[in-house]
Amino acid sequence: MQEVKKYPLSMRLMHWGLGIIILVMLFVGLYMVNLPVDNPFKWELYNLHKSFGVIVFVLAIIRLGIRAASQIPPLPKEISTLESKLSILFTVLLYLSMFIMPLSGYISSTAGGFGVKFFSLDMPNFFSEKNFDLSRIAITVHIYVAYFMIAVLCLHLSAPIKHLFIDKINIFKRML
Ligand code: HEM
Repeated sequence: MQEVKKYPLSMRLMHWGLGIIILVMLFVGLYMVNLPVDNPFKWELYNLHKSFGVIVFVLAIIRLGIRAASQIPPLPKEISTLESKLSILFTVLLYLSMFIMPLSGYISSTAGGFGVKFFSLDMPNFFSEKNFDLSRIAITVHIYVAYFMIAVLCLHLSAPIKHLFIDKINIFKRML
């Protein structure tokens, strides 16, 4: 196996920290919407989901800043041009989703008049009146991007697995 250069520590911490929070957010999101409305746990989960969504948004901004300031190790030369391009595409899509998910959730909740609390702190509502149409559009975006994100995450994970077992190149090491 050939030697591969690593991402800086700050990026590795962000990758795993934010990655785990987003995965939990996806699973909790899918779980909570299917709980019955008379189950108080459903609404506790909604509040936790919203609070951690705000955290994801702040961390995504910090992550983007760290990435812009960091030197990204080049992919090993054995990786084809097509695969390098796909890896850039998946990265861009994942970064976009990291912003679209919290923003669409926030817009849907506030425009619909449901409000957002960051744990017990009331978060600002940028809409002076309820706008159910906007709320519905935003939650539709939220739902579709969630499924899209799950698909892109699977592809994102399948690439290093393929390189490890088929090409015998350990790309995972770059993020460990
Ligand atoms: C990275 C951040 C986030 C992820 C990955 C995420 C993921 C999800 C997922 C998977 C669902 C279930 C979709 C479905 O119905 O199948 C969901 C629902 C929901 N999310 Fe998020 N979410 C995020 C951030 C937020 C934020 C910041 C808010 C609000 C401040 C929010 C509010 C909601 C609400 C209200 C629902 C329920 C929609 C309904 O009842 O139909 N989410 N989310």
